[in-house]
Amino acid sequence: MNRDLFEQARAVRDRAHAPYSKFHVGAAILSEAGAVHVGANVENASFPEGCCAETSAISAMVAASQVGPGRRIAEVTVVADRIEGRLTTPCGGCRQRLAEFSGPATPVHVIDPSGEGKTWRMDELLPAAFAMDETT
Ligand code: THU
Repeated sequence: MNRDLFEQARAVRDRAHAPYSKFHVGAAILSEAGAVHVGANVENASFPEGCCAETSAISAMVAASQVGPGRRIAEVTVVADRIEGRLTTPCGGCRQRLAEFSGPATPVHVIDPSGEGKTWRMDELLPAAFAMDETT
């Protein structure tokens, strides 16, 4: 696990807007260009309009970089509490969004606030991903 990514994901998690679920999530992406982009979950009174931390971090990455290594994910760390002992892995929609900017072997670190967790490959989280090969 990349300690700096963990610290940045943990810090942005404290800035989540999650008044409805009270479940705060932070995500930090390291791009292939070496930049870090962070995001937290942003909920809304109209519940379906909320967005996940991973989606926020992807939006920050895209806003900050041109097409190319700057918007390819080298690795990503998600920090959230465990739920009944289970790590909080990215939801299905976020797996597809992460896959858009990742490769099959891209590491996805899922870490609890104490720093304990597990790393999955992108293709373990989203096998047989739908892709159109038009991102580069
Ligand atoms: N959430 C994330 O931000 N990322 C995840 O990986 C799982 C869930 C958010 C969405 C919602 O704001 C809250 O956590 C409860 O589902």
